[in-house]
Amino acid sequence: MIMKLDVAERVDDATDVILVSLRHPRRPALPAWKAGAHIDVHLPDGRIRQYSLCGDPADRTRYRIAVKREMAGRGGSAWIHETLAVGDAVHCSAPRNNFALAPQAGRHLFIAGGIGVTPLAALAYEALQRGDAFELHLRARSRRHAPLLAELERAFAGHLHLHLDDEAPASLDDILAWFGVTADAHLYFCGPAGLNAAIAAAAERQSWAAERCHTEVFQPTLDENFKPEPFDITIASTGQTLRVPADRSALDILRANGFVMPSSCELGVCGACICGYRDGTVIHRDSVLSLADRQDKLTPCVSRARVGVTLEL
Ligand code: FES
Repeated sequence: MIMKLDVAERVDDATDVILVSLRHPRRPALPAWKAGAHIDVHLPDGRIRQYSLCGDPADRTRYRIAVKREMAGRGGSAWIHETLAVGDAVHCSAPRNNFALAPQAGRHLFIAGGIGVTPLAALAYEALQRGDAFELHLRARSRRHAPLLAELERAFAGHLHLHLDDEAPASLDDILAWFGVTADAHLYFCGPAGLNAAIAAAAERQSWAAERCHTEVFQPTLDENFKPEPFDITIASTGQTLRVPADRSALDILRANGFVMPSSCELGVCGACICGYRDGTVIHRDSVLSLADRQDKLTPCVSRARVGVTLEL
C-alpha cells in the first residue's frame, strides 16, 4: 500500500539531522505500527529510501522520521534536506517491521550509534510501556551530533546513557558487561557498519547467543567479491522450474515469468520481497533476515541458491 502523506512539520534536530512529520491529508489516524518499523519513502526521481519511525508508536496521528544528510550516500538524504518543505506531498509505504522487540524478553539493552537511535527510540518507548527493564546507550561525536537528544533525556531519564567522543565514552565490552547476560536479556543495536560489527564481536565475546542479538541496517552489506552462479527455482505449488542466470536475480526471473512479487530496495535491506522456501541450500545475501528466519525464508532480490531451491509460491 502506498499512501500520499503531507509534510506537516520539518524541524532541525542534531547536526545534519532533520525531523520530518508526515500526516494524512484527510484521515486523523494512520495505519498502526509497532516499534522498530520503517517506511519506504518514494522520492520524485523514483528512488526509494527506508526510514525508521522514531516517535511513540501510540501516536497514530503522524509518522515521524529522522533524516541524516549522508555525505557519502546515494543522494536521497541530500534531496530531502535541500528540497522537502512543509506542505509537500510524499508517497510512502505502510510501515513494515523487521526489528521488533522480542516478545519473550524482560530486559533490553539498546546500543545506538548516531542516527541509528531512531528505531531504538521507538523500541525504548515500547519497553517503557511494557514495564520491562532496559538501558538505552547512545554513542555520538558530541551532544550536538546526538539525534533526538532532548526527547530521549525527557522520555527515558534513568535509562539513557550517553557516550560522547568528546567525553571519554565507555567501551562496548563494559556496556555489555555492566548490563549482564541473563536468561531474559536481549540486545538490539543499530549504527554505522563498523560500530555494528564491533558490537556483534563484543556480544560474541561475552556469550550473548546470536538469537538474542538483533540489528537493523539500511545500507547493503553485499560482498563485492561474490561470484554469482546460475541456479534453478522450483515453484512449490505447480512444480514449474525456472533457470536464474548468473547475471539476473531470482526476483527478475520470477517477474519475467508472470509472478507478481513485491519489492522496494532490491538491495536486501528492506524485507519487502521476503518469501518462503524449502529444499535447497540458500546463499543468503540480505541484511534483514534473522538466523532463525533464514531457515525457511529468503530475499529473492539478492539471495541465491547452490544448484536449486523450491520457493513457497
Ligand atoms: S526488495 Fe528489499 S529486501 Fe528485497
